Amino acid sequence: MPLVTSTKMFKDAYEGNYAIGAFNVNNMEIIQGVVAAAKAENAPLILQVSAGARKYANPIYLRKMVEAAVEESGLPICLHLDHGDTFELCKESIDLGFTSVMIDASHHSFAENIKITKNVVEYAHDKGVVVEAELGRLAGIEDAVNVSEKDSSYTDPDQVHEFVTKTGVDSLAIAIGTSHGAFKFKGEAKLRFDILVEVEKRLPRFPIVLHGASSVPQYLVEQINQYGGNMPGAKGVPEEMLRQASSMAVCKINIDSDIRMAVTATVRKYFADNPSHFDPRQYLGPARQAVEKIVRHKIVNVLGCNGKAFI
Ligand code: G3H
Ligand code: 13P
Ligand code: ZN
Repeated sequence: MPLVTSTKMFKDAYEGNYAIGAFNVNNMEIIQGVVAAAKAENAPLILQVSAGARKYANPIYLRKMVEAAVEESGLPICLHLDHGDTFELCKESIDLGFTSVMIDASHHSFAENIKITKNVVEYAHDKGVVVEAELGRLAGIEDAVNVSEKDSSYTDPDQVHEFVTKTGVDSLAIAIGTSHGAFKFKGEAKLRFDILVEVEKRLPRFPIVLHGASSVPQYLVEQINQYGGNMPGAKGVPEEMLRQASSMAVCKINIDSDIRMAVTATVRKYFADNPSHFDPRQYLGPARQAVEKIVRHKIVNVLGCNGKAFI
């Protein structure tokens, strides 16, 4: 089976009240860990590559490794560009064989966001590639995706119908209170489900995407801190909120930080236990297993897409 788009995945997810996991990948061990989890649970999968991942690993290496994953697993896998911020970056990814791209022009005005997104949609659809766009802005700091709290804003439900109709986009990321990174909430976690409900009313049966959806498990925070790390106060989206979103219009849930933390917690513990070891296979192997473990947990307990891989 070749790489697939997310069209059938989202249609099935919408009808089945579950969501597809979109996991950020940066190297071979992360790809293998995520794919092993999806294979064990027979789950459809979106592997996504950010601008930072492209810079780190080279998109050709990532695409070839994802192709290897498709061949080895036989799973329906969609290769997606995460947070493409220009037409050129989206075009480059499409020309390279990605089956889905995100054009994130949410930092522009509404009119400019429509214009840029529409250009990407025209180019992508012509090549059989699907497009995700964003309305509203998530806060949070990662490598190439960096928005301060004062520059973030919730999605305005009154804009979504016009945006989707004028651009022809295939899915829409909305801002309802999640943020990128491991420090999402200072106090109690709050998501604006009322905005999601209003969006759903205005866009019936349309796939919605939730970014910034890591749940930052406390056992990983504790393990990182126990072995010399410093992440006090790290806090993510409670899993029950993600389950609720998955049962509504949210068809794609983006997870990156949890994978990073699983790798880091494992490697920190490994070196504390084995200070004289120096073979990368000895610590990257357990890190890969930790990725598999957390992704399996997400698939079964958060997303509900286990057993949903189609042939
Ligand atoms: O939403 C952003 C992703 O988690 C990617 O982060 O730019 O550090 O690769 P990155
Ligand atoms: P997290 O930082 O919550 O994992 O979000 C990842 C994401 O939204 C990637 O686009
Ligand atoms: Zn994101």
